[in-house]
Amino acid sequence: MRNVLEFVAGNQDRYLAQLFEILRIQSVSADPSRAGEVRRAGQWVADFLAGAGFEHVAVMETGGHPAVYGEWLHAPGTPTILVYGHYDVQPEDPIDKWVILKTPFEPEVKDGQIWGRGTSDDKAQCLTHLFALEAWLKVHGRLPCNVKVFIEGEEEGGSGGTHDFVRAHKDLLACDAVALSDTSWFSPEQPTIVYSLRGISYFQVDVKGPNRDLHSGVYGGMLRNPLNAIGLIIAGLQDAHGRVTIPGFYDDVVELTDDEKAEFRKVSVPDAERMKDLGVDALWGEEGYTSLERNWGRPSFDVHGIWGGFSGEGSKTVIASEGGFKFSCRLVAAQDPDKIGALLQKELPKLAPPGVTVKVTYLHGGTPVMVPTDSAFLRAGQDAMEAAFGRRPVLVREGASIPITAVFLEALDAPSIMVGYGLDSDNIHGPDEHFPIRNFWKGIDAGVHLYEAFSRVRQA
Ligand code: BES
Ligand code: MN
Ligand code: MN
Repeated sequence: MRNVLEFVAGNQDRYLAQLFEILRIQSVSADPSRAGEVRRAGQWVADFLAGAGFEHVAVMETGGHPAVYGEWLHAPGTPTILVYGHYDVQPEDPIDKWVILKTPFEPEVKDGQIWGRGTSDDKAQCLTHLFALEAWLKVHGRLPCNVKVFIEGEEEGGSGGTHDFVRAHKDLLACDAVALSDTSWFSPEQPTIVYSLRGISYFQVDVKGPNRDLHSGVYGGMLRNPLNAIGLIIAGLQDAHGRVTIPGFYDDVVELTDDEKAEFRKVSVPDAERMKDLGVDALWGEEGYTSLERNWGRPSFDVHGIWGGFSGEGSKTVIASEGGFKFSCRLVAAQDPDKIGALLQKELPKLAPPGVTVKVTYLHGGTPVMVPTDSAFLRAGQDAMEAAFGRRPVLVREGASIPITAVFLEALDAPSIMVGYGLDSDNIHGPDEHFPIRNFWKGIDAGVHLYEAFSRVRQA
């Protein structure tokens, strides 16, 4: 192990250069015009794996963006770990809000941070594993345990094709546990392992009114304005107490226990501090729950975008013929995303007033995930991070989603060990995304320890 850590320490310049190579690839999975860039990033990962000494490396077709596979399975008697990550990234817009780094795909190191789209989510985090594994192979010609690598290219869009691929290739991907780094720390100095993620159901709503755009003076007052109707629908989805109004929405929600609430209280940040950080004068959400309880343990409703009509400079008196909005609900155990999807498709149109028609499209879903906190693999993850960072990671929940972890659990019966190195302040999905370079270096060290720690897990 010491030799491996020394190898890693001696290769930092190359690691940064290679990270920059993949960061320069504009693998925005949501943008059809950059599908070739997404594939190119996948090919970069495949080339890296082959060069590192992985076998059966392939760029696999999924129906959506491709996923990359590679394996090294010559450690009999040890567990098999599936390393997961995603090489796709979020769109970079609004580009004019990138201030520190004006070029999202031309990364830079500045002020102890690596700046660029996909640094924290998820290219640098993902590469910590690949660099650590490569180091084991280069130094010892072998890995401490059996490893399959599975890096996808469409996580940011819901992963439809990749989920199907996992379900259809259970033998190929069979493993004892999944290891990934795609989460963030509870606070900047506190190494953290996430053991629970919320699920999600994501929707698009299209609202249509008159058959053409109308002059709002000539026709105004005669008919329902579809954009006003959008306001009504959105306002109708959640009541003044922060609860989703759709009948049946909470039917499957498992209530937080008093013990869980007590656990949350131990790690809560005061609301006043949170308000200051976010620049708001109040927090808000479902009544009867603390902000952390709401974020970790309650379902949510959030509109992501609204469109239609005129929003250019100046003024235009128009009643647009159509508009729409996108929204999602985060889900908790034991809500089922497809069931919530069907429920909203049935119930949401009832909130629409006469004079408009609404079409609700359920775009994608992800099931909430809970990793048993007594898992020996989780303990191994804590040991590895403690060895690298000098501080024992806490186990916390997370309000965000990584839907494929639920598919791994269901299809492969494998828990996901989420040894993440990001910070909430990394601006993932936003302008000026960054990742602390210290966590990059120590994350690679943690990766070196991780596969050694996994190798010592003996299962019943
Ligand atoms: N890596 C994030 C999820 C995440 C962010 C976990 C911060 C922990 C801390 C992931 O790439 C992501 O953005 N997930 C999406 C899923 C969606 C597209 C289905 C999310 O949570 O919105
Ligand atoms: Mn991610
Ligand atoms: Mn993301």
